[in-house]
Amino acid sequence: MSKVIAICNQKGGVGKTTTAANLGVALAMEGKQVLVLDLDPQSDLSASFGIEQTDDLEVTVSTMMGKAINEERFDPMEGIIKTDEGVYFMPSNLDLSAMEMSLVGTMNRERVLKAYVDKVKPYFDFVIIDCMPSLGMITINALSAADSVIVPVQAHYLPAKGMDQLLRTITKVQKYVNPSLKVDGVLMTLVDARTSFATEIPAMIKARYGNRLRIFDNQIPARIKAAEAAAEGVSIFTSEAKSDVAKAYAGLAKEVINDAKREKAKVRAERSR
Ligand SMILES: Nc1ncnc2c1ncn2[C@@H]1O[C@H](COP(=O)(O)OP(=O)(O)OP(=O)(O)O)[C@@H](O)[C@H]1O
Ligand SMILES: [Mg+2]
Repeated sequence: MSKVIAICNQKGGVGKTTTAANLGVALAMEGKQVLVLDLDPQSDLSASFGIEQTDDLEVTVSTMMGKAINEERFDPMEGIIKTDEGVYFMPSNLDLSAMEMSLVGTMNRERVLKAYVDKVKPYFDFVIIDCMPSLGMITINALSAADSVIVPVQAHYLPAKGMDQLLRTITKVQKYVNPSLKVDGVLMTLVDARTSFATEIPAMIKARYGNRLRIFDNQIPARIKAAEAAAEGVSIFTSEAKSDVAKAYAGLAKEVINDAKREKAKVRAERSR
């Protein structure tokens, strides 16, 4: 049983891509088969896996979405690249913007990515989708293909309006497209221990959303090294395995694995009833 997790927040620069890459590598280090999927035309995730020239790539996620639209048969591993760090990944490039435009006239336009992801996910334990900073049709496609969402939130700023908007979009996707979509939780990112925001923002989230939003125990500290690793095209585990950022992402991976185990046990119990 595999799990598809979308890393989603329409606010820019909150650590979505950094989380997708490092969580992906951390899960692979736990022995999981992991596919990390770049769903941002800016292709920052591809760069953080060391692929800068995505425009030259023959196959990207938009190619595969095109095949799904045309109901073409394809090899599930087509275009998927294995990194030195043990994760598999599907790159993206600017074609994804053109794809977003062409979805307008497509039948079942919310489910195009799902048609692709459903074919590849049997080969993986986890599929992690790095979303772009928008709530447009591409992100709706991610939420339709996903089992759950992780919302990275920058520790020193909680845009309550933005969070409400994101939750409304998730509710709409649940209502019309993907009833089983869940929110795994909020991940505090770019946490500066010298400030009190690391405790204030979780308290604000609890006050405003109560049990609707769980907050992951592991928080990601703000460290220059995390940004440098991405610029070098490697994860924090290659660049500074002993850092607190590496420890936090490893801890997050354990929380994610435990969630998946719990869900699996629940499904089994329901089936045997
Ligand atoms: N823990 C961290 N410590 C320091 N810098 C970080 C950390 N996590 C991410 N960054 C840096 O902050 C910037 C934004 O991070 P990232 O690209 O992961 O965010 P994003 O939400 O994917 O952004 P976008 O919305 O543009 O896709 C990047 O320059 C990244 O290298
Ligand atoms: Mg990003």
